[in-house]
Amino acid sequence: MTSKHPLARRIVIAFVLMTVIVCGGFSLGIVAVVHIVEQRLVSEALRHQLDAVLQQDLPQGRLPRLDSSTRFYSSKLPGYPIPESYADLNEGFSEVFDGDRAFHIYTRVTDGDRYLLAQEQSEFENREQALFNTTLAGFVLAVLGSWLIGRTMARKVMAPVSHLARQVRRQEQLSPSAPPLAPKYPDDEVGQLATAFDSTFGKLRQSLERERLFTSDVSHELRTPLTVIATSCEILQQSTLDDRQQELLQRVNRASEEMQELAQTFLLLARGQADQIDVSVTTRLAQVAERQCAHWGALIREKGLDFRCVTESHDDGRYNDTLLSSVMANLLRNALHYTDHGHVSLTLEAGGFRVEDSGAGIPSGQHDLIFQPFVRGPQARGEGLGLGLSLVKRICAHQGWQITVHNLYPQGSCFRVWLKPNA
Ligand SMILES: Nc1ncnc2c1ncn2[C@@H]1O[C@H](COP(=O)(O)OP(=O)(O)OP(=O)(O)O)[C@@H](O)[C@H]1O
Ligand SMILES: [Mg+2]
Repeated sequence: MTSKHPLARRIVIAFVLMTVIVCGGFSLGIVAVVHIVEQRLVSEALRHQLDAVLQQDLPQGRLPRLDSSTRFYSSKLPGYPIPESYADLNEGFSEVFDGDRAFHIYTRVTDGDRYLLAQEQSEFENREQALFNTTLAGFVLAVLGSWLIGRTMARKVMAPVSHLARQVRRQEQLSPSAPPLAPKYPDDEVGQLATAFDSTFGKLRQSLERERLFTSDVSHELRTPLTVIATSCEILQQSTLDDRQQELLQRVNRASEEMQELAQTFLLLARGQADQIDVSVTTRLAQVAERQCAHWGALIREKGLDFRCVTESHDDGRYNDTLLSSVMANLLRNALHYTDHGHVSLTLEAGGFRVEDSGAGIPSGQHDLIFQPFVRGPQARGEGLGLGLSLVKRICAHQGWQITVHNLYPQGSCFRVWLKPNA
């Protein structure tokens, strides 16, 4: 079961509801009981008085001995005519209201004759009203009190939970030297929650440590073969090579440098430490585009597609070479991969670029999904993992760039990257 209210508010609501039900029930009970008992008592008293009038006073020729608030009426005795408003009352006890005044009436019918005693009951009314006011005030005070107590209790109960939540949110909790949480809490439900967090954090720390070791092992082990490649390139450059061979050698050299940068960048991105990436911004969009066009243009044309690299307007910004290359390369690789006929184009604009193709396009419902890791669309083919666009998205988020996708008419897709979205 889910509730939209925070836990503390639910505690207060439970307190107040409980008070409303219990106190409300008691208050109504008190008012009802007092009302019934009063009626019974008054009815009994009037009956006794009427008995005394009919059996003692009148037979002895005396006037009815009644107090000033009580009147006697009879349909048989001419000196005590029954007022019209009392004429049709049922036998027994009734209440009659006459303007501001209220009367208790006791009616008896003997041999077809009616005898009535009417007693003004304003005093009872006042007493009842006072009782009602007191009960209502008590009820309101009880609800207010329960709200106050509920709030204080909720704060007290929730304080350790909120404290635990704050501690869990803190980043240091993942550092190997972070002290365990559980000893700071009593052995209750919150303590058990803290123990559960300790155990989860322990597993997380272990897997982070394993990944850290893997990262450093990979960097360490890659460094040796990459150094070998770089040194071999240097030696080869000194030997007599023709122009074509020199060019190929430079490409190998450049590729090994890129590999070093990429390995470092992607491993840091994978560990969520994007802020540690060296974001030197030295390269122009056109420079990156030229390199990528040379590489991907050849492959795209090899596949029998038309490739165009168009500069619509000049961009004067400078960007991180590794990251921009990676974004552009992934988009061009996808365009090549998912286009069977027609063309692929890279268009440079002021503040961004777009990669367009004449492939099958992407269903509009998938436009957000394809940027999630390990998600492959309906056009998926080959051995991809569904990671390319998620990496592109993370790089864009880190650099403050913006990537959008839309379909082209009659077919194809367009990925647009804004390198200065706020400009
Ligand atoms: N230019 C495109 N045309 C049509 N569909 C595309 C295009 N680019 C991406 N997609 C769709 O988006 C999905 C996700 O792309 P992404 O690059 O993240 O993964 P992938 O290409 O499947 O695998 P990987 O990049 O990991 O090798 C693809 O599986 C494909 O369905
Ligand atoms: Mg891809």
